[in-house]
Amino acid sequence: MNFLLETLQVLVLSVYFNLEAFLKLFIPSRKKSVVGELVLITGAGSGIGRLVALEFAPLGVSLVLWDISQEGNKETARLAKEKGARKVHTYVCDCSDKADVYRVADQVKREVGDVSILINNAGIVTGKKFMDAPDSLIEKTLEVNTMAHFWTYKAFLPAMMANNHGHLVSIASSAGLIGVSGLADYCASKFGAIGFAESVALEMLTAGKDGIKTTIVCPYFINTGMFDGCQTKWPRLLPILDPAYVAKKIVNAILTDQVYLLLPRAMYVLMAFKNILPVKLGMVLGAYFGALNFMDSFRGREKKDK
Ligand SMILES: NC(=O)c1ccc[n+]([C@@H]2O[C@H](COP(=O)([O-])OP(=O)(O)OC[C@H]3O[C@@H](n4cnc5c(N)ncnc54)[C@H](O)[C@@H]3O)[C@@H](O)[C@H]2O)c1
Repeated sequence: MNFLLETLQVLVLSVYFNLEAFLKLFIPSRKKSVVGELVLITGAGSGIGRLVALEFAPLGVSLVLWDISQEGNKETARLAKEKGARKVHTYVCDCSDKADVYRVADQVKREVGDVSILINNAGIVTGKKFMDAPDSLIEKTLEVNTMAHFWTYKAFLPAMMANNHGHLVSIASSAGLIGVSGLADYCASKFGAIGFAESVALEMLTAGKDGIKTTIVCPYFINTGMFDGCQTKWPRLLPILDPAYVAKKIVNAILTDQVYLLLPRAMYVLMAFKNILPVKLGMVLGAYFGALNFMDSFRGREKKDK
């Protein structure tokens, strides 16, 4: 195809897809059926992982719950069964350990079957300024929040590719889109998770595996306990999110094959600003939104909450 023809094609498609996106603001997207799907959630023992499991419970899926905490995982399984889940399988897995991920993944494939919806949700936060953070915690953050995603993909993607069917979900963070003072290692891990998920999504498309869908989730602070103590400066513009609301939005995004989910909606505007405004104005806005001091009052989750 020559330059003029290809450029014209891109212009026509730009108009078409912009119009489509605009209409979708008013017309709710159709939800796909997930009956019979095998949904694996990492970090299912509390917070968002647990609530996403409970949202999936009545939808006719089989659930595979992974967590480092057996107690938390068992409680999620009990609640999921109460909510109508047909089959729930719990596994203790330390996602920071590649060998453990591969070992438990093999066990799941033998005992339950091929995972068709993979939700990489397990996450940790150091909550210290970079120079105060111990090397071991920095490494652990990268291992859980980013590298675990590599190993779960390696374990479960081959079956999805063979069937040209599946869904890869990355529970990342708005801290994976914009740097935050006091969250350097966490931001690095979430930027990494997003870059990884986006890149493999493109690999699937170029390999013709259009039956494998992807969803990348980037929420602002959620009231799960992980970021206890953190304050938001303008709660009306950037509220601390309700976990049940976030879980509903995540499952809705999966059911409608939404590729990116940013929460709250103001995050879409902030991201556009970050990319188009002069850097100095960006800093002024960062200070205005409190991004320089989000972590000043961080306490994190009390051990007993876990
Ligand atoms: N809470 C927030 O404000 C917030 C905001 C944006 C993104 N997120 C992300 O959402 C995800 C869920 O966060 P949450 O708020 O529900 O946190 P949470 O602490 O309530 O839950 C995290 C779960 O992961 C498990 N886990 C931790 N390390 C693990 C490991 N090595 N192997 C297996 N499981 C492990 C924990 O036991 C826990 O059950 C995380 O990836 C987090 O980074 C959270």
